[in-house]
Amino acid sequence: MKWTYIQPVEIIFETGGVKRLSALLESRGLTKGVLVCDPFFAGSGLLEAVLSYAGGKLAAVYASVTPNPRIEEADACAALLRETGADFAVALGGGSAMDCAKAACAAALSGGPIVGYHTGGKKLSGAAVPLIAIPTTAGTGSEVTCVAVLSDEAQGVKAPIADNSMYARLALIDPELTLSVPPRVTAATGLDVLSHALEAFWSRNHQPICDALALRAAVLVFENLQRAFEDGDDIDAREKMCEASVIAGLAFTLPKTAASHACSYPLTNLYGLPHGEACAFTLDLLCAVNAEAENGRLNAFARQLGFGGARQMGAEITRLKKLTGMRVTLADAGIDEADLPALAEKCRHPNLLNNPVPLDDALLIALFRRTKSL
Ligand SMILES: NC(=O)c1ccc[n+]([C@@H]2O[C@H](COP(=O)([O-])OP(=O)(O)OC[C@H]3O[C@@H](n4cnc5c(N)ncnc54)[C@H](O)[C@@H]3O)[C@@H](O)[C@H]2O)c1
Ligand SMILES: [Zn+2]
Repeated sequence: MKWTYIQPVEIIFETGGVKRLSALLESRGLTKGVLVCDPFFAGSGLLEAVLSYAGGKLAAVYASVTPNPRIEEADACAALLRETGADFAVALGGGSAMDCAKAACAAALSGGPIVGYHTGGKKLSGAAVPLIAIPTTAGTGSEVTCVAVLSDEAQGVKAPIADNSMYARLALIDPELTLSVPPRVTAATGLDVLSHALEAFWSRNHQPICDALALRAAVLVFENLQRAFEDGDDIDAREKMCEASVIAGLAFTLPKTAASHACSYPLTNLYGLPHGEACAFTLDLLCAVNAEAENGRLNAFARQLGFGGARQMGAEITRLKKLTGMRVTLADAGIDEADLPALAEKCRHPNLLNNPVPLDDALLIALFRRTKSL
């Protein structure tokens, strides 16, 4: 056995903590920053609130991040960081805003357009503008990972950039910020958390600390996702989901995700499923596929969660998906039987190789067909 665990991000988890932003910046010597968020925050009044919490230290705003952010958005954001001579950035939002800011902070000091680092094989310099990541969904865990997922529409690619320089300086997790998340987004992002936990555990690169984190995150999701979905004002459920999100982020950042994330990328690109819903599309079925791998360690994991085994855990995920209105079958997702070979080919992302049971195109097609019986 051989493993290494490293986690360089300072984490502050504090309900209402965003109101202390100015003091947190001051104590870190950060004076002039750029706020990165998506248009929802400009419309909701939260953008102005955060500018005031920052006590005048946020000198510029980039508020045009779209879901599944494009490389051009990260380039524009990097340009703003350079032009304003910013000594930090704040990302306020879900994975989209955080990923855009992470890539921009690294590219701002490495130079050149991001496409070179994304798909061009160019190495980032290792230096980055310090980032304060403030997640508003529970969620991607992007505040503690060194990965930014960007879309390149010209090449038809959605892919991660990973580099140690993309770890945030500080993750500030304030569950109050998630109270406004609508139910469908609560469900999709919550199922993303569960995908991170389960895939961290069954990844071929699993390791003991991440296994423990994965178990804790999965317990929290099974206990609290339905509550947060049914009553968005339930601050206790929101806190628990934020806790699950950051713990799942810590669980998967080293082992990496596996088949459900590999399959999610084309489901998002070709069929428009939001990230978490796209991951959940195969997650329940993969519980059965992976149940007996490595001497049944997933069955043992599911039993620790109170299930009879991995298949029963998968059935609970299917129930949660149906209850929360997620798309479950091929027909729900608008996928024709004839599309399956091309879809399977597009799932050949490197993360697919982390799945404990090898999945070729024929097995992927069979997996997608099985959604019809859910
Ligand atoms: N970097 C990583 O480690 C990592 C991990 C998983 C996923 N991702 C990526 O993150 C992206 C998805 O992020 P996401 O699921 O958080 O969604 P998102 O950031 O795209 O946000 C989804 C929607 O929710 C809205 N929203 C966010 N916070 C809100 C709030 N507090 N109140 C009301 N509305 C709010 C946004 O405006 C947006 O319309 C995808 O691109 C995915 O590939 C990254
Ligand atoms: Zn994810």
